Amino acid sequence: MTTLTITQPDDLHLHVRDGEALKSVVPDTAKQFARAIIMPNLAEPITSVAMASNYREQILSASQSTSFTPLMTLYLTDKTDTATIKEVNSSHFTHALKLYPAGATTNSDKGVTDLANITPALEAMQKLGVPLLVHGEVTDPSIDIFDREQAFIDTTLIPLIKQFPDLKVVLEHITTRQAVDFVNQASDNIVATITAHHLLMNRNDIFTGGIRPHHYCLPVLKRETHRQALVTAATSGSPKFFLGTDSAPHPQHAKESACGCAGMYTALHAMELYTEAFDNADALNKLEGFASFYGADFYGLEHNTNTITLKKEKWQVPKSLTLGDSTIIPLRANEFCEWKLI
Ligand code: NCD
Ligand code: ZN
Repeated sequence: MTTLTITQPDDLHLHVRDGEALKSVVPDTAKQFARAIIMPNLAEPITSVAMASNYREQILSASQSTSFTPLMTLYLTDKTDTATIKEVNSSHFTHALKLYPAGATTNSDKGVTDLANITPALEAMQKLGVPLLVHGEVTDPSIDIFDREQAFIDTTLIPLIKQFPDLKVVLEHITTRQAVDFVNQASDNIVATITAHHLLMNRNDIFTGGIRPHHYCLPVLKRETHRQALVTAATSGSPKFFLGTDSAPHPQHAKESACGCAGMYTALHAMELYTEAFDNADALNKLEGFASFYGADFYGLEHNTNTITLKKEKWQVPKSLTLGDSTIIPLRANEFCEWKLI
């Protein structure tokens, strides 16, 4: 196959920051996706519907598109109350709340320190059908970084689901075979997003020829057997697995540093990367469900009506892009993509 036309997809996990950086990155997503679930982990996290409303306005005015819809989320803290959950449920533009275990990743220090602190909020979410989005890694520094997802499933997620069996849960950006197995055997209300980079790369890519700061993200890339399990899940046709890029813009200087931060920028060419992963697995016929239907179905959204077309044509990714008054290095900078969005 040399061209592929599918219903326009949605990105169900995206970081866009704010201010000038936001203005640089939102148009990239709006060129590829009809809608995106916007992560709330700003330096001052989005913790109320009023904050989400302001943030949404910033995104809409930066999108350079009349058809792009940001789907807003709130950041759970130890103080999130049931009134906030009710407000999220009744607002037309807020769709979920994100659980960042405190200390797990970028701007997570105001996250939840103990799930017991948000029991009433979780009860309300379960009752109202408001999805809980989860960064699934434990924060205990004594746990090996490559084991933190599985440890989270065992010590936090399984007990959580036992306590709230009807809670809608998205285990975000899964990276391991254990996460795939867990989601597959769980009930229908437990689903997962998968990034393009975790479908295309394994942990060797962090160290090819030297240390590669632009291949560092959280959860960190895992070994090849895990990548293969993710590809199998994404291309299985199961509605439990859907697209979430986790594109996370950080300025070049913050990545190329003695203590570089986590995140890869894929908003520029997300669909090209996913299409390549599905093509490599001989599963292009499974891309549309994964990219355009299953996520919308989980969130109770209509399917998009317009289409996008990708063409099998090699092109070179720019070596850097503008990010506010700084620069950003996209994934595959200066290297090639096999597919092109036309
Ligand atoms: C994300 C970011 O930069 O906000 N970074 C990342 O490595 N994925 C946060 C996150 O999703 O962990
Ligand atoms: Zn993320």
